[in-house]
Amino acid sequence: MTRSIFRKDGTAQGVAKQRLIETLAEPDKRVINDPHANGFVAGSGLMKLMGHKLNVSLSAKIAPGFHEHLIARTRFIDDLIRDCAANGTEQYVILGAGYDSRAHRLGLPPSLRIFEVDQLEVQTRKRSKLPKDIPNSASVTYVSVDFNHQSLSQQLMAAGFDQSRPTVFTFEGVSQYVSKEAVASTIEELALLTQETSAALFMSYVDELLDTNPEACFGKGYPRAAKRAEMIMGLSGRVGEPWISFYTAEDLERLLSKNGFSVVDNKTLADLNSVYFTPVGRTLSEDQLMNLEHFVVAKG
Ligand SMILES: C[S@@+](CC[C@H](N)C(=O)[O-])C[C@H]1O[C@@H](n2cnc3c(N)ncnc32)[C@H](O)[C@@H]1O
Repeated sequence: MTRSIFRKDGTAQGVAKQRLIETLAEPDKRVINDPHANGFVAGSGLMKLMGHKLNVSLSAKIAPGFHEHLIARTRFIDDLIRDCAANGTEQYVILGAGYDSRAHRLGLPPSLRIFEVDQLEVQTRKRSKLPKDIPNSASVTYVSVDFNHQSLSQQLMAAGFDQSRPTVFTFEGVSQYVSKEAVASTIEELALLTQETSAALFMSYVDELLDTNPEACFGKGYPRAAKRAEMIMGLSGRVGEPWISFYTAEDLERLLSKNGFSVVDNKTLADLNSVYFTPVGRTLSEDQLMNLEHFVVAKG
């Protein structure tokens, strides 16, 4: 692996690592199941030896609720995609797909056309790691785009995107890495691409409060909020993918509505705690609720 490839897939690996850890939980205790995450994570053998409990408790020492925040985000989108696929959506575009394996693990209908968009280097590594016999691989088209420098529509259209088909887009854990200008023009492109049909969009964004007032961003009594906010942002910077864009709910709503999307949902870990973690006996206490990201669904 070259140094530049390592730098580009550091955060994609980080998220896949949390999915691997969650998958190690007993089936009746886990919130998501990603049997493919294993193949993308360096040191996965050791994590498997350690098991779910130890991995989660180590992660909680570094940043309480960080694991659960990423897992809640994954599950929230899994539910959205299953729902869209069952209700007439014909195309799914995964923006900044990284090592997302939804195409292969959700039992989606083969008629759903899936476009995975990411930087070429990350896609090349992903494809080299995917097992040959992974389910549903014929439904996936890889489209390489750098949001900061390339037009998404041009690349998607060249890859066979059909502007007449109802489409869902997910932009999971990406907006913080991309300039606000590039995010705005990507959303503009999504609106233009789907002006003849219906569209749903999931987008996560990092709350501006993380940068300006971490105590207010995290749950009541969250320990050492400012230090942990600094550490989380610092870790991404150290793997060469700094967080550069933060939003308020109003910013995002304005940006989406300007492009014809209306927000139908905006959740944080605090909202999803009782929905996902309570049913499996893992309710988080208030001092573990890190509400650093918001999970937004909009319809166009
Ligand atoms: C934190 S990872 C999230 C990956 C995946 N969505 C997930 O949740 O597992 C961020 C992803 O955004 C991609 N990304 C970051 N900047 C990008 C850019 N300018 N153009 C395209 N993709 C980008 C990275 O390559 C990486 O796969």
